[in-house]
Amino acid sequence: MTLLLTAEQAGIAEAASLLRAGRLVAFGTETVYGLGADATNARAVAAIFAAKGRPRFNPLICHFASAEAAFRHVVATPEAHRLAATFWPGPLSLVLRRRTDSPIDFLVGAGLDSLAVRVPAHAAARALLAACGVPVAAPSANRSGAVSPTTAAHVLADLDGGIDAVLDSGPCDVGLESTVLDLTGEPTLLRLGGVSAEALEAVIGKLVRARAAEPKGALRSPGQLASHYAPSLPLRLNATTAGPDEALLAFGPAPPEAGATWNLSEHGDLTEAASRLFAGLRILDDAGRRLGLTRIAAMPVPHEGLGDAINDRLTRAAAPRR
Ligand code: TXA
Ligand code: MG
Repeated sequence: MTLLLTAEQAGIAEAASLLRAGRLVAFGTETVYGLGADATNARAVAAIFAAKGRPRFNPLICHFASAEAAFRHVVATPEAHRLAATFWPGPLSLVLRRRTDSPIDFLVGAGLDSLAVRVPAHAAARALLAACGVPVAAPSANRSGAVSPTTAAHVLADLDGGIDAVLDSGPCDVGLESTVLDLTGEPTLLRLGGVSAEALEAVIGKLVRARAAEPKGALRSPGQLASHYAPSLPLRLNATTAGPDEALLAFGPAPPEAGATWNLSEHGDLTEAASRLFAGLRILDDAGRRLGLTRIAAMPVPHEGLGDAINDRLTRAAAPRR
């Protein structure tokens, strides 16, 4: 049984004590729901990989209540300090060299000598991190490869019975995962997300953009896997109409007719579209299968600002499955 906790004082205290006891607790952040465990507890971290069916080579992000707490575990470069001052708390994860004296379990970094750290902006998440007092490793709280959850109900749809509790703090504001930036060498964008590349470049200058396609051999960040964040129905990109067997993921005013439609944003607003993307993929997936539809057709979304991250997730959702 998975306990459903509300994000008030008592629920947050209970979630914090479960985390300290080595249990798995999903919690809302401004990006997506995370599946949290005490990052210093090897058995708890291993349980995250088991609950998600996540491959052990895919490292986890560590969450902290403050930049000061995060930088106790990694070697913060001058860029890291500048970015933290500008974007934390917020949807940015920084990959930095791990400090040799950090008690964070090596499984969190999947054996790499780096760690991804982040300070979320969401009030309930910050209260939880402050109350539990340990670094919290948390991947998105979905089955590995599936669409990330943006409500407590999405978490339960994937993981009910397999985790100890969900702290329900309502729907996530941003709705896309954090941007992942590697600062262990030349600053390299590993995953587009809630902070745009342009916003990062305004603070630290030109970034290297890691190749989006799946590299052969060494995988720099498994968020780069070509097929990821995928609903169970196949997805067709750049649709201008929907066929009789297709559900429609629309964008903008007056979309074409379809058997089932979810509009990311009638007004063409990219922030609204990001916050509605993952819920829409889940809803069209369920409705489409109920109605006997065989595919989701996705209308084009502009390649600017958050639109880059939305297009990144849509491309991965449409990639051939493995
Ligand atoms: O918004 C988010 O980042 C959410 C919330 C819960 O914080 N978390 C999340 O975690 O999306 P996850 O595990 O689904 O994605 C983490 C990404 C993966 O692509 C992983 O490969 C990459 O970060 N990552 C983590 N540690 C890394 C490291 N040491 N080096 C390179 N990439 C790393
Ligand atoms: Mg994920």
